[in-house]
Amino acid sequence: MDHIGEQILIFLSVCSLIFSSSAANPTTPLNCTDTTRLCTSFIAFKPTAEQTLQVIQSMFDVLPQDITIEGNGRNYIFIKKNCSCSSDLNKYLTSTTFTVRENNGSVYDMVMRAYDGLAYFSSNVTREARKGAVVSLKLMCGCSSGLWNYLMSYVMRDGDSIESLASRFGVSMDRIETVNGITNPDNVTIGALYYIPLNSGLWA
Ligand SMILES: *[C@@H]1O[C@H](CO)[C@@H](O)[C@H](O)[C@H]1NC(C)=O
Ligand SMILES: *[C@@H]1O[C@H](CO)[C@@H](O)[C@H](O)[C@H]1NC(C)=O
Ligand SMILES: *[C@@H]1O[C@H](CO)[C@@H](O)[C@H](O)[C@H]1NC(C)=O
Ligand SMILES: *[C@@H]1O[C@H](CO)[C@@H](O)[C@H](O)[C@H]1NC(C)=O
Ligand SMILES: *[C@@H]1O[C@H](CO)[C@@H](O)[C@H](O)[C@H]1NC(C)=O
Repeated sequence: MDHIGEQILIFLSVCSLIFSSSAANPTTPLNCTDTTRLCTSFIAFKPTAEQTLQVIQSMFDVLPQDITIEGNGRNYIFIKKNCSCSSDLNKYLTSTTFTVRENNGSVYDMVMRAYDGLAYFSSNVTREARKGAVVSLKLMCGCSSGLWNYLMSYVMRDGDSIESLASRFGVSMDRIETVNGITNPDNVTIGALYYIPLNSGLWA
């Protein structure tokens, strides 16, 4: 093979490495192959008035030191969680438990409401939730492929844009677009989960 051909091949391999981490559909978990992988990840969460810090600790199975409150009147919470590559699903997920506080609909609906787009069920849990029951579930998270240090799971809300997230978290729009396979930054889905690449463990 000639020199130019070799360079093109290397370039293509680097590209496929970068883009293999892209999510085709942002609401699905990131695929992974190395099931020994374990990393620190972050989850952005906007609690409701009833979701006190104590409730949040229980919902995410974390300690107070794993929780940071965002300033600027945004009232977001950033949660530090270990993220791993699930060996049966080959997806990046983190485990937690949810304690049912009142009888009100199916486990699926209750969890979807409480975690607001962060939860992942590999099957549909339509059974009724009983007060006091402890439900195991998975949340979507991500490990970086090496170009940045951390990924933060973030559910897009009305008023958010790739541009506003880039400035809020100090990353370039390009990076957010690359990780999430976004081709048109003006076309994002409200309520869908995106992964924000972070270089510093601001809240680690
Ligand atoms: C992730 O894996 C699933 C099933 O293995 C596949 O259908 C999907 O296309 C993959 N997604 C990406 C972004 O590679
Ligand atoms: C997260 O992973 C690290 C490294 O393996 C481990 O030491 C730590 O105990 C884990 N934390 C939790 C909460 O499981
Ligand atoms: C049950 O869930 C619905 C949302 O589907 C909510 O409007 C209602 O207030 C809940 N009931 C109780 C008792 O919290
Ligand atoms: C799961 O079941 C609930 C209740 O039956 C339904 O509203 C929801 O759309 C279903 N979700 C999926 C992904 O099938
Ligand atoms: C926006 O994105 C969705 C899915 O990601 C796609 O189906 C749709 O065609 C896009 N719309 C525009 C105007 O690009």
